[in-house]
Amino acid sequence: MSDSSRPGSVNSNDTFNISESLVPPREIKAAGQSHVSFDGLLQRPLLLKEDLKEGCGGQLWPAGMVLAKYLLRRHNSTLVNKTIIELGAGGGLVGLGIASGCKIGPSPIYITDQAPMLPLMEANISLNNLSSTVQAAVLDWGEPVSDNIPQHPDIILAADCVYFEPAFPLLISTLHELLGANSVCYFCFKKRRRADLRFLKMAKKAFQLTEISDDPDAEIYKRENIFVYAIRAKSGPNKATEATS
Ligand SMILES: C[S@@+](CC[C@H](N)C(=O)[O-])C[C@H]1O[C@@H](n2cnc3c(N)ncnc32)[C@H](O)[C@@H]1O
Repeated sequence: MSDSSRPGSVNSNDTFNISESLVPPREIKAAGQSHVSFDGLLQRPLLLKEDLKEGCGGQLWPAGMVLAKYLLRRHNSTLVNKTIIELGAGGGLVGLGIASGCKIGPSPIYITDQAPMLPLMEANISLNNLSSTVQAAVLDWGEPVSDNIPQHPDIILAADCVYFEPAFPLLISTLHELLGANSVCYFCFKKRRRADLRFLKMAKKAFQLTEISDDPDAEIYKRENIFVYAIRAKSGPNKATEATS
């Protein structure tokens, strides 16, 4: 397990530092299963295996809950005929939630993470009988995107992927590679440390960022330092070629 994916690389108490209206109160547990309905937005709750042995993605994170709820409310029927990739999916909370509650297809949603997380993603796809609509794959930020994943997806999802400073330029590089002229990344992050703002600064230099304003929960989760942005490639003369500082 790399340091970047150790639970200790973030303040794990912060993980649950969010109002109970957004995240069901739970204890941090070594391994187990959770039912998640996103406050009733899913008729049939997701069954999610959680296991931290391969990294911090093995538990549910607050920004994942926020992003999934936003998409279920506001993008329930806008994702049809779109190619969709989730980055840093962990156990697949967001992608599986979307696959269960939004109209999608015919392309599967690709939920991606580092190789050690692949078995957990696959287990959760099976647990929820979503293998016809969700595909798990390895996508290591900063590495070339493999051919079996859409190269410029319409929609990119990323939740709670800002927590380890050395990974910031890698994530920026992967977003550069994936964002095509018509792509949008729904990016939800929780600011835990001052350093996290460095990621935002890098992203603003490299891309066009718009804060999401049509989420009824926004004022609640902003108080918990959680933000949702739409990130798009810059176009025209201001287009950035590289932004790693
Ligand atoms: C805090 S977890 C968030 C998991 C999930 N998105 C959620 O909201 O519940 C961050 C995820 O990013 C993944 N990650 C960290 N560094 C990565 C990298 N270099 N390439 C791909 N994924 C990475 C971790 O493995 C982990 O699953």
